[in-house]
Amino acid sequence: MIRFTACALLLLIVAGISWAAHVQAAPKEEQLKLAQQVRDIFEAKCLDCHGPELPRPKGKFGYVLDLQRMADNADYVTRGDAAKSELYLMVRDDDMPGEDANVPPLTPEEKEIVKRWVEIGAPGELPAGAEKETPATAETGGIEMPTWKRMIRWIGRFHPVSTHFPVGLMMIAVVAEALAWWTRRESWMQTVRFLVIFGALGAVAAASLGWINAYFTSYVGSSAAILKWHRWLGTLTALWTVLCAVLVVMSECAEGTPERRRFRGALLVGATLVSISGFLGSALIYGLDHYAW
Ligand code: HEC
Repeated sequence: MIRFTACALLLLIVAGISWAAHVQAAPKEEQLKLAQQVRDIFEAKCLDCHGPELPRPKGKFGYVLDLQRMADNADYVTRGDAAKSELYLMVRDDDMPGEDANVPPLTPEEKEIVKRWVEIGAPGELPAGAEKETPATAETGGIEMPTWKRMIRWIGRFHPVSTHFPVGLMMIAVVAEALAWWTRRESWMQTVRFLVIFGALGAVAAASLGWINAYFTSYVGSSAAILKWHRWLGTLTALWTVLCAVLVVMSECAEGTPERRRFRGALLVGATLVSISGFLGSALIYGLDHYAW
């Protein structure tokens, strides 16, 4: 029994030592200094999107100046282990602040400071008398994105609005095609052709704008996966609508022919693809559950 207790004690001590070794010890002054530095870096580079004053902070994460709270969140920080701390990895890989930010990424020195801060256990205490108030705006760091790049970014912002054209036109084309089949009227077939051709043009435009828009965004985690699906399904959708346009021109106005049936099938698939791509796009903004009851 004594042997067992001794063994258990020894194990505990070993575990304790290895844990202590894990979080590097640092003198109090260094802890305070690093905490202040990290706070200053975050204030300069993250406040625009994660500041406590924002009504809707990005990623639902609005406490970037509260070191203690961040360090307590195991999703962000593993005390003593920078390689397991999402917060550090994001700034290390320039995922944050992303391409769309008005501030440049962290410098190698700044990254090193954040890393060291995590390694010494991510202390939250700031030097006494340190400025704790949040400045009204964080125009620090400078913007410096060249005008042409800002222009391209601006053009990319028309992606969401542009997608309404292929979605609406392809949907109504299905209705018009149903009427064409029902009434056998030539005029409905011409309507379908008109709608599908413009739907295809709209889809190609929307997909191109989407690629530009995506370049300037920074999605992480599950949103990054949604973006990937949205990007490739959206691209496939645009190509598919072009195929539909080619088929409708080829099958012209010949009701009852195999060509027309082939086009009809392609149109139904196209309308479905457009809806799914659109849903994934809105999921990027509102979340996958935005139609939940
Ligand atoms: C231009 C805006 C912008 C800036 C600046 C920015 N972020 Fe983000 N951040 C985002 C967006 C958008 C998300 C949400 C991404 C998503 O949901 O995929 C996010 C998400 C995060 C998350 C994950 C939140 C979660 O729980 O999912 C962390 C952590 C984070 N940012 C840290 C930082 C840090 C640290 C900085 C500064 C170095 C920073 N961000 C700067 C836009 C920004």
